[in-house]
Amino acid sequence: MVQLTLPKNSKVGVGKIWPRPKDAKRVTEFHIYRWNPDDGQNPRMDTYFVDRDECGPMVLDAIIWIKNRIDPTLTFRRSCREGICGSCSMNIAGLNTLACTKAIDDVKGAVKIYPLPHMEVVKDLVPDLSVFYAQHAFIEPWLQNKVSATPEKEWNQSHEDREKLDGLYECILCACCSASCPSYWWNGDRYLGPAVLLQAYRWLSDSRDEATGERLDQIEDPFRLYRCHTILNCANTCPKGLNPAKAIAEIKKMMIARQL
Ligand code: SF4
Ligand code: SF4
Ligand code: FES
Repeated sequence: MVQLTLPKNSKVGVGKIWPRPKDAKRVTEFHIYRWNPDDGQNPRMDTYFVDRDECGPMVLDAIIWIKNRIDPTLTFRRSCREGICGSCSMNIAGLNTLACTKAIDDVKGAVKIYPLPHMEVVKDLVPDLSVFYAQHAFIEPWLQNKVSATPEKEWNQSHEDREKLDGLYECILCACCSASCPSYWWNGDRYLGPAVLLQAYRWLSDSRDEATGERLDQIEDPFRLYRCHTILNCANTCPKGLNPAKAIAEIKKMMIARQL
């Protein structure tokens, strides 16, 4: 068993060590953050042992295995198990990522899992994303056309214009990037953060959208946009390989261009 060490000033305590599965030949140890808003206790780290011969290869497989076989109270979000829905984002071995696409074998030693950092916790591994979703709604993430909201035929786009959305449309709104951004940690109520700004740039880049001026007006603000200091944690952590910092830089360029 790996000795679980926590910082001296941590409010997170050492929790329950659950029994090892009997007769298991290949076992991986997991340290998982637990917090129940209803029991009045501080958070704790529980230790679980997973029989790898009975469990799939990904961290999400292990968490589901734990919930089904050991501890049904363990709470987390997940849906697609394919890296598409963005539900299973959490901090695994120090990096914000998707549990369903993170291989257990990619982690050395015991697998440490926390909820996404610097967000309120609803329970265990479930962060409160209400502010994040409200910020996404704020940028009005849909196509805006001034001629007709319901066009009579499909809206064609050239291949070149369509390619401008590459690296943007793939975002699954998992919030891994925003939860890794120091500027968002300190000013998350006013700074829109990398995920939402990447989404804003996705609509600013769409050749069919006619609300560019209004969109830029909406985010031109010392806090909403200009809290990005190009630290690049966002690009480093994105499980889809996207680069929100680049999108933010492009928005800043658009802001300058319209003043010329
Ligand atoms: S940019 Fe990447 S990390 Fe950020 S929300 Fe989109 S998919 Fe997730
Ligand atoms: S580059 Fe900007 S958005 Fe990305 S982590 Fe750094 S400050 Fe946050
Ligand atoms: S469960 Fe959908 S992205 Fe992981």
